[in-house]
Amino acid sequence: MPDNKKYVELLWAEKYDRYEKGEKKPIEKPNLPFQVVETVNKPRIKGGYTISFFPEDEYPANYSKDWKNLLIWGDNKLVMSSLIKQGWVGKINLIYIDPPFFTGSDFTIRTKIGDEAIEKEPSIIEERAYKDTWSGGIASYLEYMYERLVLMRELLAENGSIYVHLDWHAGHYVKVMMDEVFGPGGENKLGFRNEISWCYRTGGAPSKEADFPKKHDIILFYSKNANPKFNKLKERVYYEKPFFTSLRDASGRYYADVLLRDVLQDKITLVLNNSKLLTVNVKPVINVSAECLNFLTQKSEGLLQVLLMATTDPGDIVADFFCGSGTTLATAEKLGRKWIGSDLSKFAIQVTRKRLLDIHNSKDLTENEKR
Ligand SMILES: C[S@@+](CC[C@H](N)C(=O)[O-])C[C@H]1O[C@@H](n2cnc3c(N)ncnc32)[C@H](O)[C@@H]1O
Repeated sequence: MPDNKKYVELLWAEKYDRYEKGEKKPIEKPNLPFQVVETVNKPRIKGGYTISFFPEDEYPANYSKDWKNLLIWGDNKLVMSSLIKQGWVGKINLIYIDPPFFTGSDFTIRTKIGDEAIEKEPSIIEERAYKDTWSGGIASYLEYMYERLVLMRELLAENGSIYVHLDWHAGHYVKVMMDEVFGPGGENKLGFRNEISWCYRTGGAPSKEADFPKKHDIILFYSKNANPKFNKLKERVYYEKPFFTSLRDASGRYYADVLLRDVLQDKITLVLNNSKLLTVNVKPVINVSAECLNFLTQKSEGLLQVLLMATTDPGDIVADFFCGSGTTLATAEKLGRKWIGSDLSKFAIQVTRKRLLDIHNSKDLTENEKR
């Protein structure tokens, strides 16, 4: 523990197992050959089941011809430690993760075949992970997160950032842990940047009458150093009456263009650098959403689009080590970013693989391909 009286640290039962004589034991880093499921090479921007994100003329020119996107099946602790051994330290520009939320049912996958809802029991690998993650309660969950966050920090580029998507179950504990691993922000601006609220109206009513409905997730946003890559995004906000600096658009509505806040909800009208407007739907995926893949914890591409636009440029490398149905990877693909994804569940890998290949196969020729 640093010799600093103002320092605060979260403790959990197994944390000091890795300390010997007051020194930190390094986190194990085995190097295993990968189970690479697919390499999908050409980035696509147009088409698919969502509208194109960018006009074709913004197709990234710097997309390397020899780059191979990676989809890896396995426990991400092994995947990341192998990536570290294989020379990926400091190479990843952005990591987004949406790990299990410590809800107790994170490894049961609900899906649909035809009209029939199916609950898929965890496989043996998933069951083992479930036991590792939850058998010691919150302490083993925190140990599981800590080991992985330390590896993620190593993989991040010096000006890279990370988003950790959680909710009320464990988000506050992981926030304190992130302060330790990345830095608490504050004066030297190291580490912490925002706690983003992703708000929604869907889902059920509270189980106990004394609860307010829980209708937001938190996305912890941290950077590796004090000067991360950050593209300031502006949003157009409409008002019913004229307001301070408000202007009027062609249809007479009052509006102001303001910096995008750390509260994301519904539809956001972004004002692009070329002054064009881009409306992004960040609502959660529900059964009738066009992008729905019947993967219970699937997040929306609109949410990922906003996060990726703020912290990456075309050609950057985006990783999601808990990729689930592949939302981050699909969004990265459509925005012309390179990507690396992994998941423990074979089912998740299959869903992701199909999703990425569908993007790949269902496109008109992009300008890039015509060249
Ligand atoms: C909440 S889901 C992610 C959903 C994803 N964001 C989406 O939009 O579809 C969490 C995923 O993490 C995976 N997972 C849990 N522990 C893991 C581990 N140790 N290594 C790799 N993947 C893991 C689960 O199999 C699950 O697919």
